[in-house]
Amino acid sequence: MEGNLVGAINNQVEMETPNNITIKGILGLLMANTEATDVKKVISLGMGDPTLYSCFHSPDVAHDAVIESLTSHKFNGYSPTVGLPQTRKAIADYLSRELPEKLCADDVYITAGCTQAIELALSILARPGANILLPRPGFPIYALCAAFRNIEVRYFDLIPDKGWEVDLNAVEALADHNTIGIVVINPGNPCGNVYSYQHLQQIAETAKKLRTIVIADEVYGHLAFGANPFVPMGIFGDIAPVLTLGSLSKRWLVPGWRLGWLVTNDPNGTFKNPKFVERIKKYCDICGGPATFIQAAVPRIIQQTEDVFFRKTVNLLKWTADICCDKIKEIPCISCPYKPEGSMAVMVKLHLPLMIDISDDIDFCFKLAKEESVILLPGLAVGLKNWIRITFAADPASLEEALGRLKSFCQRHSYQQNDHH
Ligand SMILES: Cc1ncc(COP(=O)(O)O)c(C=O)c1O
Repeated sequence: MEGNLVGAINNQVEMETPNNITIKGILGLLMANTEATDVKKVISLGMGDPTLYSCFHSPDVAHDAVIESLTSHKFNGYSPTVGLPQTRKAIADYLSRELPEKLCADDVYITAGCTQAIELALSILARPGANILLPRPGFPIYALCAAFRNIEVRYFDLIPDKGWEVDLNAVEALADHNTIGIVVINPGNPCGNVYSYQHLQQIAETAKKLRTIVIADEVYGHLAFGANPFVPMGIFGDIAPVLTLGSLSKRWLVPGWRLGWLVTNDPNGTFKNPKFVERIKKYCDICGGPATFIQAAVPRIIQQTEDVFFRKTVNLLKWTADICCDKIKEIPCISCPYKPEGSMAVMVKLHLPLMIDISDDIDFCFKLAKEESVILLPGLAVGLKNWIRITFAADPASLEEALGRLKSFCQRHSYQQNDHH
């Protein structure tokens, strides 16, 4: 009897965990491989957490708002699991500023960061036999979450020479009647793309043709500094239903506050089906959502953060993106086909035949970590082998130092440079 029980428990704990690569997992391994010295401190351009650098700091008003809600003692209890009504309303008003049809509080579900909005979206859409279309390169949490939900993942390519636009023909070829959605990340991670109005409209038209929905990850919303302005996908909600996912994390520079949202943008009311609403609400009961006092601070944070704060962040990102691209041009064996116009990251291609002893992107990043104490993310972690992702949300001096070390590394490992000697 006891043996049976142990056997049953072992069966449970030995169940297979999806073997997806995670960004955190691989960065941890790289970090362990560094040999930092006092002169050569570790510089990480691997994570998308701008708060690691003091030049990216959150607005004072956000802190004041949180202190006010905390010290009021009014928000120590549970909030409704879909979020506080005033928080839902504040997010609805914030997003409605740019939409033709205004959102209402009921369209908004408050989540623990955009990560939980991803989990919520995939969980409510999951059903037996379902598949989801994901961008490659992309953000690995989607595939990990899909694996836990038994949703089949089908990848479509983003095209580097076309500003990392979605390969719409591939999307059409991949979809079938079991496709639960097309994920679009704009502004993009890991590519730094910002899509035009026309391209976003084409994506919505494609979703309509395929009778599916768009899951629009706008966690980097408004962090755009190139030719294309940021256009929210929700504008096209009348063409195909859109689930918009977002958070305060990046625009307000508070990723640790875990305040995000899932929003239904759909003037035709597909998501208003009572059964669907019930399903979202039930799933929110499981999630729990972010701390009530953080939620309570949101209306003031949104209303009182000044434009000058946002402009400063965007200008700084534009500056650091420029540093990144200018320096990369001087480095042998790597190139960047598209100058980032938004978000905080850029994809850089490795030209391995020009390198002496580097077998692939993983090898490149491990040797770089060991020799130069610089951490970059291997492209494989975001679905693109033999590329690397560089996060440029860093202070300009550290960025220049890191790229200088990257240059010496590439020079040391390149055939051309060694031939000259
Ligand atoms: C594309 C994308 N989606 C979602 C997230 C998660 O956002 P949050 O930190 O708000 O959970 C990130 C974080 O880096 C991201 O890059």
